Amino acid sequence: MITDRQLKEKWFKFFEEHGFKKIEGFSIIPENDPTVLFTTAGMHPLVPYLLGEKHPAGNKIYDVQRCIRTSDIDSVGDASHLTFFEMLGNWTLGQCDKTTMIKLSYEFLTSPKYLGLDKNKLAVTVFAGNAVAPRDEEAYNAWKSCGIENIFFTSEDNWWALGGGVGPCGPDTEMFYDTGKEKCSENCSPSCDCGKYLEIWNDVFMQYVVEKAGQQAQKLALPNIDTGMGLERTVAIINGAESVYDSGCLKRVIDFINQNATVKYTENESATRSYRIITDHLRSSTFILGDARGVLPSNVGQGYILRRFIRRAVNHSRNIGFDCKLFANIVDIFVDEYGQDYADIKSNRELIKDELLKEVSKFSKALEDGHKEFEKVINGIERHKEFASKNGEKVENIINGKSAFRLYDTFGFPLELTIELAKERGYEVDSEGFNQMFKEHQEKSRQATAGMFKGGLADTSNQSAFLHTATHLLLAGLQKMFGKGVVQKGSNITPERLRFDFNLDHKMTAEELMEVENFVNEAISRAIPVKCEVMSLEQAKKCGAHGTFTNKYGDEVKVYTIGDVSKEICGGPHAENTSQLHHFKIIKEESSSSGIRRIKAILD
Ligand code: ALA
Repeated sequence: MITDRQLKEKWFKFFEEHGFKKIEGFSIIPENDPTVLFTTAGMHPLVPYLLGEKHPAGNKIYDVQRCIRTSDIDSVGDASHLTFFEMLGNWTLGQCDKTTMIKLSYEFLTSPKYLGLDKNKLAVTVFAGNAVAPRDEEAYNAWKSCGIENIFFTSEDNWWALGGGVGPCGPDTEMFYDTGKEKCSENCSPSCDCGKYLEIWNDVFMQYVVEKAGQQAQKLALPNIDTGMGLERTVAIINGAESVYDSGCLKRVIDFINQNATVKYTENESATRSYRIITDHLRSSTFILGDARGVLPSNVGQGYILRRFIRRAVNHSRNIGFDCKLFANIVDIFVDEYGQDYADIKSNRELIKDELLKEVSKFSKALEDGHKEFEKVINGIERHKEFASKNGEKVENIINGKSAFRLYDTFGFPLELTIELAKERGYEVDSEGFNQMFKEHQEKSRQATAGMFKGGLADTSNQSAFLHTATHLLLAGLQKMFGKGVVQKGSNITPERLRFDFNLDHKMTAEELMEVENFVNEAISRAIPVKCEVMSLEQAKKCGAHGTFTNKYGDEVKVYTIGDVSKEICGGPHAENTSQLHHFKIIKEESSSSGIRRIKAILD
C-alpha cells in the first residue's frame, strides 16, 4: 500500500537524486492566459520556459501540479477519470535526450526502491510518425533496451499539444499499466477505452511549436522534455484498487457518503457512478473555490464550470438519497487532506463551505418551479380520482407520458427526477408514454418544415424557441471569432437540441468551442431582451440585419435584435429575453460536408 504523500515523496526523492530542482505548483486558475479556463497540465504555466526563456531554478525541474480537465467531465464515474487530479511533473529545458528520460521513467516505475512495478505489466505507446515528424525510432529502441515488450505505435494519440493546439508540442511516449483484464478484441491496445490499459505517465518530447492557430508545427530551436504522471491513478494501481475512488482520501469521501446515503455505493451501476461524480465534482469545487485566485459560481467562464460541478453533484446526490447539506463535511475531508500542501484551501475552508451551500440552495430554488408544476400534476390526478370514485370508477396513480414530457420540455425536469418524485408520492410514471411523446416530438421536428421562415425550427414550444435564440447567439459568436464570412448553412431544432451548420475551413479546437460557448453564455447572463420588428427587406438590409436565405423572404420581414450581440432577419419564434435560455452547452462539433462544420448544442 502507498499513500498519495508517499508517492509524492518518492517522486521528489528520485528527481532530486537525478539533479532536478523542485519548483512550486501553480494556481489552478491560470494567470494572464485567456486560452484555457484551468491549468490542465504541469507544463501549462511553464510555456515561456519551454519556448526558451531561462528558468530561475535551472534547466532540470520537477513539481506537483493541481490540474482540472473539464474535457473529461462526461467520463467521470468510470474507474479512472477525474476532472481534478494532481500531476507529478518534471522538465528538462533546452535539451531532449529521449533515451535518458525513458530510462529514468523505467527505473522509477520498476525499481524496488521506487514503485517496484512488474515490467511485464507495463505497456507503452510510441509515435508512429506523421507529415511533421518521423516515427520515433529512438523512443522505441530505448524501451526495447529496457526490456519492454508491449510497445504499440500510434500517430494521433502520441502527439501532445495544449488544448488550443498553439504552443510547444511534439511526439510523446505514454506508459500504461495492464490491469490484467481480458482483451476487448484482437486489436485491443492502449488506445482503446475498454479499461484493460490504464495510462499513468507521459513523456513528451517537445521538439516543435505551433505559433498561430491553423499553422503547421515548426521545429523548436531548443527542444525540451515534459513529463507528467497521474498521481491518483498510479496510487490506485500500486494499491491494487478497483478504481481511483477506492484508495486514499477519495475513498474516505466515498465511505462518508456511503454511511449517509440511502442507496449504497455498489448497489447498482448508476449509484456507483453518482458516488464518484459527487466525490470528483466536490473536490474540483473545493479547489476552485479555495484557490487564492478562486472564483464563485456564475454563468460564465470558470464560474460556470464551478456551477455545473455543484449542480451535477446535487442531482447525483438526489439519485442516491444523499443530503446536500453534508457537502460541508466532504469539504472538511478534502481540506484536512490537502490543506498541508495547499495553504489557500486551508485558509478558505469556511468560504468554500458557505459558497458551496449557497449555490446548492440557489439551484434548489430553480428546481422549485418545476416542483410546483409537479404538484399541480399530482393535484390534477387526485381531483380526477375523487371525481371518478363518485362514479364508481378507479383511476391509477400514474403520471401520464404527456405530463412527464411537459415537465421535461418546459421545466427541464429529467425523466429520472419525475420518476423519483412520483415514487415518493406513491405514483408511477408512464415512461413508455414519455418516450413515445419524445419520439413524436422528434419526428414532428424532423417533418415540420412547411411554413418556416428559416431552416430548422420545427415547432413552437418554448424550448425550441429558446434554442432558436441560442442559434442566433451562436452565429454571432462564430462571426466574432472567425469573421463575418461565416454564415448559416443549415439549422435544425428540436425541443431537445439545436443543430447548426456553417462554413469553416477547419475543425474547431476545444478552446475555440469553449470560447464560443462562453460568448453565448455571457449573452445569456446579461439577460438581454429580444426585440422583434417588422420592416421591408430593403430596410432590414440597411440596418445591417444578417440573413442568408434572402430569397425565401417576402417583402416584409421580421428582424430579431438581441442587444448589441445579434441582428437577424428571421421568422421566429424566439425567447423574450436571453435569460430564459438559462445555459448553453455545445455537445458536438463535427464535419457536415466539405468545408461545412456542424455544431450540436443544448440548453441545460
Ligand atoms: N503535458 C503532458 C501531459 O499532460 C505531460 O500528458
